[in-house]
Amino acid sequence: MTSEQKDNKKEENKMIVTPWDTSGKIDYNKLVIQFGTTLIDDALLEKFKKVTGKDLHPWMKRGIFFTHRSFDVFLDAYANGEPVFLYTGRGPSTDAMHIGHLIPFLFTKWLQDVFDCPLVIQISDEEKAAFKQLDFNVLHEMGIKNAKEIISCGFNPKKTFIFSNRDYRLRCPQYENFTSDMKNNTSMKLIQSIFGLQGTGNIAMYDWPVYQSAAAFYQAYPHIFGNRPAYCLVPHAIDQDPYFRLARDAASKMNLIKPCNIECTFIPPLTGQDGKMSSSKAEATLFLDDTEEILRKKIMTLCLSGADPDPEVHKKKGGNVDMDIAYQYLKYFEYDDKRLEEIKEGFTKGTISAVEIKEILVQSLYKIMKQIQDYRKTIDDKLIEDFYAQKPMDLPKPKMKEPTKEETKLYEYLDQLKIQHTTKYHVAIITKDQAEDLARMLEGTICKGILLKSKEGYIYYIINEQTTVNPKVLSKKIGA
Ligand code: TYM
Repeated sequence: MTSEQKDNKKEENKMIVTPWDTSGKIDYNKLVIQFGTTLIDDALLEKFKKVTGKDLHPWMKRGIFFTHRSFDVFLDAYANGEPVFLYTGRGPSTDAMHIGHLIPFLFTKWLQDVFDCPLVIQISDEEKAAFKQLDFNVLHEMGIKNAKEIISCGFNPKKTFIFSNRDYRLRCPQYENFTSDMKNNTSMKLIQSIFGLQGTGNIAMYDWPVYQSAAAFYQAYPHIFGNRPAYCLVPHAIDQDPYFRLARDAASKMNLIKPCNIECTFIPPLTGQDGKMSSSKAEATLFLDDTEEILRKKIMTLCLSGADPDPEVHKKKGGNVDMDIAYQYLKYFEYDDKRLEEIKEGFTKGTISAVEIKEILVQSLYKIMKQIQDYRKTIDDKLIEDFYAQKPMDLPKPKMKEPTKEETKLYEYLDQLKIQHTTKYHVAIITKDQAEDLARMLEGTICKGILLKSKEGYIYYIINEQTTVNPKVLSKKIGA
């Protein structure tokens, strides 16, 4: 190879990972350094097990979800009984999603079961309109088709909110206001440097990142959280990380809870290890609506093999699982660790042939795809409406705090004055603003709490800024 050819090869293999373009040989360790995320280590996995009481997902054990931002902080919040939620998304660009997209969604479904918490799913139709320059109505329609496949992963409709970004920001002023505040706190320079945008292209390309970032804060969902602060965990592949660098930067400036992330590796294209499986390379991609025959045909003919082309040589020498794409996919889709180990051993020793390992993949993968295809057929308009509805969701009850020394002293003093008080409301009956209104209305007095006059005397309520109460209901209750 001449030095010019070598340079060309180097250029071809140059790793590019952005939310819109992934190519070259992916070096995940390098990406972690480049992006500034943290590798998931054994201590964090142990913490996950301890806090949730659950065993690890095979994709955590196998290093498929391999890096994070503040996942430990999320686990602490969950352990402390704070409200938490999950957030992920899809950029509609094809009618059917591919098996790479399944990884964050199936993992998110599992996390929703583990944490039993709200989940929000952003359909980034406006992102695709900005970057692909496609007709918005077509993208919106694709978004709904994609949402059907997402729903078919088994999410809980009572705890899942799916939204088209365009529709939601036009419908929910609080979301649009919150995003506007974030835009005011985000410089053009920062967007350019995080996303590698050079000042060319349309304005929507520069505007979009704020929406994907803003959706990682509880303030974007007043129908779920009201004023109750909640911690967000975002599962996704590493290409989406730049959005959350932006989100975390905005969080520092705006004094918000930083989103936490858990990030996975890419399913490679059928034809080889470079880049990722992507809808834009349709010929090397397995789509969720492929039939079993199409799936088998694509896998048998296109899937790069780690076996010697001569079956007799493979039998003698064995194959290379690191090169074998069927095996690489099985690491994602064969959940049984023991079975995966047997397949590895068989292929490495040559007792499982190139065709056999591909057939094993067809069986394992189609089992998962069929479940999704069957579920999708049952989805009606009502179920879609349920998922898209801005509905309230159950949050953990606020924890009762033990009174501090000062507070105990205060209660003793109130007892002496024969002023009724209650630790029942120690954590929270009302926001400060409402307390002030209420105090004005009821001629109460505000100090650290609120003193209200009732028929029987005075009642002292402690103010906490996390819970809201309807003042009319409250005043009726205490007879003021
Ligand atoms: P999109 O539609 O490109 O991808 C959807 C999700 O799939 C992940 N992904 C992959 N994972 C494994 N292997 C692959 N080959 C592969 N290709 C894609 C993506 O990382 C993503 O998690 N801008 C986003 C949509 C979005 C979003 C979000 C994603 C909006 N808000 C919040 C994650 C979190 C997009 O176009 O994703």
